[in-house]
Amino acid sequence: MKTLIKSGTIVTATDTYVGDVLVDGETIHSIGTSLDVQADKTIDASGKLVIPGGIDAHTHLDMPFGGTFSSDDFETGTIAAAFGGTTCLVDFAIQEQGGTIRQAWETWMSKAEGKAAIDYGFHMILREYTEDIGREMGEIVEEGVTSFKLFMAYPGVFYMDDGSIFRAMQTAGDVGATICMHAENGLVIDVLVEQALKRGNTEPKYHALTRPPKAEAEATHRAICLAEMADVPVYIVHLSAAEALAEVTAARDRGVAAFAETCPQYLFLSYDNYEEPGFDGAKYVMSPPLRDKAKQDQLWRGLQYNDLQAISTDHCPFCFNDNEGKLLGRDDFSKIPNGAPGIETRMSLTYDGGVVGKRISVNRWVELTSTQPAKIFGLFPKKGTIAPGSDADIVIFDPDDFWEISAETHHMRVDYNPYEGRRVQGVTKTVLSRGEVIIENGNFTGTPGRGRYLKRKSRHDA
Ligand code: URP
Ligand code: ZN
Ligand code: ZN
Repeated sequence: MKTLIKSGTIVTATDTYVGDVLVDGETIHSIGTSLDVQADKTIDASGKLVIPGGIDAHTHLDMPFGGTFSSDDFETGTIAAAFGGTTCLVDFAIQEQGGTIRQAWETWMSKAEGKAAIDYGFHMILREYTEDIGREMGEIVEEGVTSFKLFMAYPGVFYMDDGSIFRAMQTAGDVGATICMHAENGLVIDVLVEQALKRGNTEPKYHALTRPPKAEAEATHRAICLAEMADVPVYIVHLSAAEALAEVTAARDRGVAAFAETCPQYLFLSYDNYEEPGFDGAKYVMSPPLRDKAKQDQLWRGLQYNDLQAISTDHCPFCFNDNEGKLLGRDDFSKIPNGAPGIETRMSLTYDGGVVGKRISVNRWVELTSTQPAKIFGLFPKKGTIAPGSDADIVIFDPDDFWEISAETHHMRVDYNPYEGRRVQGVTKTVLSRGEVIIENGNFTGTPGRGRYLKRKSRHDA
């Protein structure tokens, strides 16, 4: 099957030009200013952007958390991702306490198989470090799981002490993997949470007030120092505080292999959302929390000057009007499941706020949402660019159309949208995943289960 995408504005991390893209089977065959070829299907992309499909390097589909599960599974979540212009994601498998890494990988493989509509890889969340786990880290890297997430937060759940973190980092360094770090000082946060609850402060806003920016900045500083000593690249996930960004910037200026992502919620929402009436603040309970609006410009600056290398979603939805969702914390903010939806809205929100808002160029937008995640997580150049030989994961994006975001029309399986009513410029129109058109004319035209597991490269393969 040959598909010709005609007369679009092709945008990569480095170039912008009008041209044609010929897709042959699953990959890009050729690119030219005017290709004179026969194809089975021709798509007129004039007036549209032709971009590499978005890569979301941080999602939690079908994830157990606090006695419940995130509400999107690999079918609903990946279809929603595709509607929003994302063609590849890296989700987090979770090692059970006392369980093996292989068990966790197999569990998450079976969650995705038969369901995922786009290609996917996995990071591995470690909950402990033992000699056996260390040995298994090398084995799972061979299977393409080449990054490990560690937590400095959530004592008793995901938290690891500094000694265990350091050992896991050393092993990750040895096997060519990258460390993803949830950087918040969980022990201090737990003290603040206990004190707040003792005072009767139970509303959602206390989630934010008990997780101060300093707790993120201190942990970010410590994570980077530990990684530097262990000689392993560290990628700070879901960075929200300008104070934490300053730590990443300082480390990068010293030449440390420190990377970081932020997420749309930290660019477009703020602490003010926790002050919404009634229990509505629970919609925004996530960790780290939303921060002061006045500090958002510093995150944009980080994105502009490459102190932040990626924009991911941390998509982890829980329904609002649901006793198994956000309502679990009706009387106690610490019981509200942490996380919010965003897998579908990332590309449009960041195009609107970034490119239309003149904060980043269209090439930087592609770089942050696709190319850099592919490079950092061992998927480039198969994913993350438009080039001959790359997978034909291509999004045809209308830069002039508008979308009023709403839970009534989104495709994520969650009963609210944190951006309800926001009107954004820039809409995904057509999506190809490995050459197959999976979104067209507002419909999903793919099949659940067509998505493939991605064996990612380690630094030793580079
Ligand atoms: O609140 C969040 N971020 N939930 C998802 C789990 C995590 O820490 O990334
Ligand atoms: Zn996290
Ligand atoms: Zn997360």
